[in-house]
Amino acid sequence: MPANANTPAPRLTLPRWHDLHAHFRQGELLRPLLRAHAAMGCAGILAMPNTVPPVAKVFPGDAAFDCWSIEEYLRMIRDADGGFDDIIVPLYLSENATPEMISAGAKSGLLRACKYYPPRGTTNAEHGRPLDHYMQNGVFEAMAEHGVVLCLHGEEHGLAPENYFDSAANAETFFYRERAPRLAEKFPDLKIAAEHVSTKAAVDFVLQAGENVAASVTPQHLLYTAGHLLQGCKYHLYCLPLLKFDADRAALRAAVTDPRNTKFFAGTDSAPHARKATDCGCAAGCFTGGVAPQLYAMAFEEAGVDLSAPVGQGIFARFLCCNGPAFYDLPVSKETFTLIKEDRNVASLATPDGNIVTLAEGAGLKTLPWRIA
Ligand code: NCD
Ligand code: ZN
Repeated sequence: MPANANTPAPRLTLPRWHDLHAHFRQGELLRPLLRAHAAMGCAGILAMPNTVPPVAKVFPGDAAFDCWSIEEYLRMIRDADGGFDDIIVPLYLSENATPEMISAGAKSGLLRACKYYPPRGTTNAEHGRPLDHYMQNGVFEAMAEHGVVLCLHGEEHGLAPENYFDSAANAETFFYRERAPRLAEKFPDLKIAAEHVSTKAAVDFVLQAGENVAASVTPQHLLYTAGHLLQGCKYHLYCLPLLKFDADRAALRAAVTDPRNTKFFAGTDSAPHARKATDCGCAAGCFTGGVAPQLYAMAFEEAGVDLSAPVGQGIFARFLCCNGPAFYDLPVSKETFTLIKEDRNVASLATPDGNIVTLAEGAGLKTLPWRIA
């Protein structure tokens, strides 16, 4: 409802938050994408390593294929925008990764996290190896020993289409029922961030696991279901993991809005694609740069949280601003940003690669009910 002179619009002042999963790409795209994140109150970012080439070594030097080091990609990010308190760049796990690389990287302070991609399972994931590879070659053991977080893209790769997205099971449920329990059992000290969880099966796994296991949740998986994507084929809602069913969305909403939630935190998976759909397919990834806190606030309200009341605001702040930094051993920001309950028109982001359509526009919204002050 629009504010009038007698009733000031509700406002929410929060610590600047950490987006603990986002894609900033490379080259000329870096600056506008980083700026869009800074403009939505981010104090810190976890910048995903599926760049071109990928970030698949810790230090500059030889590798089995063309790749950047964490040191190099961190410098590119800082040169493009120096405005973040914390930047984590996970190592893209590939055939390069060895226990020696993990321990040297961790000791240097550069290596804080590693990213598991299911081989060819998503955008730029062709260098990934199956999970078993790192379970057996000492890499996960070294990560556990040095407190390096495993960022998990929890989907089974290579399934037949019939099993990839079935009403009873899908690539993510398979992973969290079959693979993840064995991983957690074999490495009880390994810190695992189950990323962009999209199913009740993943939520259940995270809830029953120890304190070493937490999860990030995106705006799209809290707001929408596969039906939203399919009705009108709104391909800007196409991301991996795919949007799921109402029972899955309900489980995600229950997890993030639970007043005792310490395990679920914000990680947008904002993934820009200037050319999204082609004649023979669609790039996976939803772009939420500039609009993520507004979309998260919308989702919390749809889930029944009253963001004008202190209790609701506390629940939202824990999810957006506190649980993620706590899991990654980062301080909660002492600076603040403010969300105001006022309609704002949605717009695309202009970049040297072309306009990037946000999830909000892609979902058919003309306005967002919150704006950032
Ligand atoms: C991501 C991208 O475009 O880089 N896409 C996506 O659908 N989430 C890759 C990823 O995180 O899976
Ligand atoms: Zn991602």
